[in-house]
Amino acid sequence: MEHSFAPLQNDLIVRAAWGKKVERPPIWVMRQAGRYLPEYHEAKGNKDFFECCRTPEIASTLTLQPIERYAGLIDAAIIFSDILVIPQAMGMTVEMVDKKGPHFPNPLTSPDDGQYREVMDRHCDVSKELDYVYKAITMTRTKLNGRVPLIGFCGAPWTLFCYMTEGGGTKLFKESKTWIYKYPEETKALLQKIAELCVEYLALQVKAGAQLIQVFDSWAGELSPAAFKKFSEPYLAYISQHLPGRLKEYGLEPVPMIVFPKGAWYSLDSVSNLGYNVVGLDWLHDPAEAVKVIGDRPVVIQGNADPGVLYGSHAAITEAVKNMVDGFGWHERKSGWICNLGHGITPFVNPEDLKFFFQEVHRLTK
Ligand code: CP3
Repeated sequence: MEHSFAPLQNDLIVRAAWGKKVERPPIWVMRQAGRYLPEYHEAKGNKDFFECCRTPEIASTLTLQPIERYAGLIDAAIIFSDILVIPQAMGMTVEMVDKKGPHFPNPLTSPDDGQYREVMDRHCDVSKELDYVYKAITMTRTKLNGRVPLIGFCGAPWTLFCYMTEGGGTKLFKESKTWIYKYPEETKALLQKIAELCVEYLALQVKAGAQLIQVFDSWAGELSPAAFKKFSEPYLAYISQHLPGRLKEYGLEPVPMIVFPKGAWYSLDSVSNLGYNVVGLDWLHDPAEAVKVIGDRPVVIQGNADPGVLYGSHAAITEAVKNMVDGFGWHERKSGWICNLGHGITPFVNPEDLKFFFQEVHRLTK
């Protein structure tokens, strides 16, 4: 089924992501639809988090909330969902525990654990299992009515692998490190399987109406540079190398691809060669240094203010924006930068302070 949607009134982020010169840097923030917004809590009520993801009407309403609140200031929507829907589609149970985060009651413990074989052998049909995401995307595109582009996303294989083995958030990474250093071959087989599902899942999101895609490697920075080369980068590369071909098979045009290897600052040079149009930076990067590392490669930077600055004074927010505008060389280059935070916006931020951040980006890039 092909969809027809209203033409885009604001395609700034699409043009910027393709490396074009633009009139001002596009802006959005990771996790922009979330707990810092009072209207999020109101719409979510006491419904289960994943139930909201699975209900296109609710997911699209939540996706639109920041677009409505910050109309004219923000340049993209990101579909309300979660990276953990892939492990769910693979047959694993994932619950969202209030105030604690995701929890897998039965994480993968070792290659001998029957569950690993089950997950590896099970045929996983993301077209069927994640149909609710595509429906939410199509409904959201209709409701957006061309206001701003819609971003689709998935978790990177390494990050999803961490959740599948740890069973939730962790500081130690005991299970995932045991896997990579004790069972590297079984680890790689699973990472490859996840990467293939990511390609199909992203292609189907584009088919449903996603206009850019982002791969979140939130735990990239837990790996050493050598381990990143083995256990993350090849699978990020698999996705960027195979998605365009898969889109072509569906008769779809390519879309800009964004990769966000959080914490893996050492990887910027090599990640810039993987074929992604945009590399997301966290706040550990100095903007001017990052621009130097990328050099004349056609790679756009997304980022990278410390989300924590939104707990600070307006003067601190202004300074953080200036730091990006100057460091990314905005006034000289007029290209190569999509403004964002260096990670998701955190709970308890005052939405008015995020508004001030957006306004400052507009003011200081005139
Ligand atoms: O606005 C958006 O960015 C779109 C929605 C979105 C969510 N999760 C909604 C969400 C996106 C893009 C994600 C991605 C995601 N999910 C990542 C990658 C980005 C990152 O932060 O590194 C990760 C690691 C997850 C897994 C996850 N989901 C965790 C660790 C948690 C709990 C802790 C936390 O930071 O919120 C979630 C829950 C979640 N995902 C919430 C939202 C709005 C909060 C749910 C709630 O309590 O109401």
